[in-house]
Amino acid sequence: MQRLHRKRIVLGVGGGIAAYKSAELVRRLKDQGAEVRVVLTRGGREFITPLTLQALSGLPVHLDLLDPAAEAAMGHIELARWADLVLVAPATADVMARLAQGVADDLLTTLVLATDARVALAPAMNQAMWRDPATQANAELLRSRGIKLFGPASGSQACGDVGPGRMLEATDLAQLAADCFQRLDLTGRHVVITAGPTQENIDPVRYITNHSSGRMGFALAEAAAEAGARVSLVSGPVHLPTPDRVERIDVISARDMLAACEALMPCDVLIASAAVADYRPEVIAPHKLKKDPTRGDGLLLELVRNPDILATLAGRPDRPFSVGFAAETQNLLEYAQRKLRDKNLDLIVANDVANPAIGFNSEDNAVTVIDRGLHEIRFEQTSKGKIARQLIALISTHLKDTAQNHA
Ligand code: C5P
Repeated sequence: MQRLHRKRIVLGVGGGIAAYKSAELVRRLKDQGAEVRVVLTRGGREFITPLTLQALSGLPVHLDLLDPAAEAAMGHIELARWADLVLVAPATADVMARLAQGVADDLLTTLVLATDARVALAPAMNQAMWRDPATQANAELLRSRGIKLFGPASGSQACGDVGPGRMLEATDLAQLAADCFQRLDLTGRHVVITAGPTQENIDPVRYITNHSSGRMGFALAEAAAEAGARVSLVSGPVHLPTPDRVERIDVISARDMLAACEALMPCDVLIASAAVADYRPEVIAPHKLKKDPTRGDGLLLELVRNPDILATLAGRPDRPFSVGFAAETQNLLEYAQRKLRDKNLDLIVANDVANPAIGFNSEDNAVTVIDRGLHEIRFEQTSKGKIARQLIALISTHLKDTAQNHA
C-alpha cells in the first residue's frame, strides 16, 4: 500500500545545506504515491536548482510570489488550497522565525499563512542555532499552533559541529508525512493483544521458553489505549510494567493463553505478537526429573504441538480483524505471505529476527506489513513505541476502510 496515495504535498525547500536531501525526499514522497509540488525559496535556490526538483517532481517548481506568469498558472492561494500537507524541509532558523511571526514576504511564508492544510517542518540548522532560546521559543510557538516539527536529529553537522539540528533522512520524513494522514482512532473498539513468550513446563522446576521480551506487544497495547481502544493484554511471563488503561491477563503456557483469549471473544481486533511455543512436553512430570544412570547420558523429551492461538481465533465465525507477526530469520516476505493466507489474517507484520538490532530483545524494530491484497508497507528502523503507533494507525485506517466497504 502506498501510504500517501493521491495526497497532494507542497514541499517548501529553504536555504540550508540539507536542501540536497530534499531531492531524495521528492522521490520518497512520490514512491508513497504523493503528488509533489515544490516551492523553492530564494535561499533554497543557492543550494539546489529548480531544474533538479522539477525533473524529480515532474511539475514546474514554484519560485516567486509576485511573478505574473507563475500566478496565472497556479497562484499562491490556489497552491495553498491544493495542498493536503505543506512540508517545509529544510526549515531553516530564518524560515521558522518568519513563520512564527506570521511574516508573508515570499511565496512559501504566504502560502503557509493561507493554507488550511496540515503544516509540518523539518528543522535543519547548526546545533547552536537550534539551541538558541529564540529558535526554541519559535519552535514552541509553532507547535502550539498545531504545526508539526519532524526532528531535528542529532549527529555530526556539515559545519563540523556535533549536536541537534540535522535534518531527518528522506525516508523518515516520508513516513512522518504519511503518519499525518493516519486516523489514529480506535474509540469504542475492543483490542486483544497477545505478548511475550509462553513457558511450557517439563517438571515442577524446568520449562521450555524463548527470548521474547514482550516489548513489542506492550508498546502496541500502549498505542492502542492512546488511540482510545479498550485493550486486553494477554501476556506470558515478562518483566514489563502494565501500560496505563490496559487490562492485563498474565498466563504461562500456550494453552492458558488460548483459554484467556477465548474468554475475551468476540472482540474487534486481535494482535498476536506473542512468541508462542509451538511444542510442549507431552506430559509434565509431577516431580523433578532426576538424572537416571540406567539411561546413559541422554534424555528424550516427547513433545506435542500446541494449539495455534491466532489461527484458532481468526477461524471463528465471529472472527476479529486479525493481525499476526512473522518473525523469521530467512525468506521473510515469502513466509509472511504464506502465514497471512494459512492463518486467514487481515495483516501480517514481518520482522527479521536474524538482525540483532531489531530482534527479540532489542529496543528497536523495523517491519514490513503485508495486507490481504499483498501490498507491502515498510516501516523503517525506529523505536518499538513508534513502530507500535504506526501499526495502530494502519490498523485503524484498515478498520475504517472495511467498515466503509460494508456500508
Ligand atoms: O507460525 P508462526 O509461529 O511463525 O506464526 C507467528 C504468528 O502466529 C504470531 O502472530 C504468533 O503470535 C501466532 N501464533 C499463535 N499461536 C501459536 C503459534 C503462533 O498465536 N501456537
